[in-house]
Amino acid sequence: MDSKIRLDRLLAESGFGTRKEVKKLIKKGYVIVNGKEIKDPSIKIDINSTNVEVEGKPANYIKDIYVILNKPSGYITSTKDKEMTVMELVSDIPRFEKLFPVGRLDKDTEGLLFITNDGELAHRLTHPKWKVPKKYFVIIEGELSERNREKLNEGIDLGDFKTKPAQVTVLKNNKKTSELEIEIKEGKYHQVKRMFEKVGNPVIYLKRISFGNLLLGKLHTGEYRFLTEEEISQLKSSVNLTKNK
Ligand code: URA
Repeated sequence: MDSKIRLDRLLAESGFGTRKEVKKLIKKGYVIVNGKEIKDPSIKIDINSTNVEVEGKPANYIKDIYVILNKPSGYITSTKDKEMTVMELVSDIPRFEKLFPVGRLDKDTEGLLFITNDGELAHRLTHPKWKVPKKYFVIIEGELSERNREKLNEGIDLGDFKTKPAQVTVLKNNKKTSELEIEIKEGKYHQVKRMFEKVGNPVIYLKRISFGNLLLGKLHTGEYRFLTEEEISQLKSSVNLTKNK
């Protein structure tokens, strides 16, 4: 993207109102650009080197948006659907309509969902070549036998494909239900559920707790947060992208 954009667009896309509303703010003299009052909404602003303020508040235009959401159960991972989508949970982010989720979590799966407007990064993170690790907390029916844990770790045949090696850690093994973590480096449709179903332990609850270097941490269900600069550069370098692409 060109680093120069119109003043009215910059303000609208930084959350100061619609294009029409911000034009009014500019015309009224509320907008200061590099210390000077500017009344022309069409002037071009270099987003990397210009200081813009609206009634004393800095307008921070964020070109590339990177957030993680703690997805609640009941939301569809898609930008459009007749049911509630995860996008409703990030709709207060300026330019949220340009965002999309990277990868999919089932409607009843909770946890870490990476959302961005960076198409190249999203493409790489979901491409099998990069083998991005994803870790899930899982509650299953019954007890996972050591033999089945080994089978899951080695890779199992699901009929249409054989899973790549996984890493299953048992947290609590009980007769009725058990708790585990599984890390996989691929992301086929319903993969974790199908893997446990195959060894006779259907999944009762599934939550993604990490995606590449991104950790869910203490983020509350239904909430999102912006990634730190460090998280973004680590994520990019994990798929061989430099910070400035
Ligand atoms: N595996 C599944 O079965 N479901 C998910 O939502 C994610 C991984």
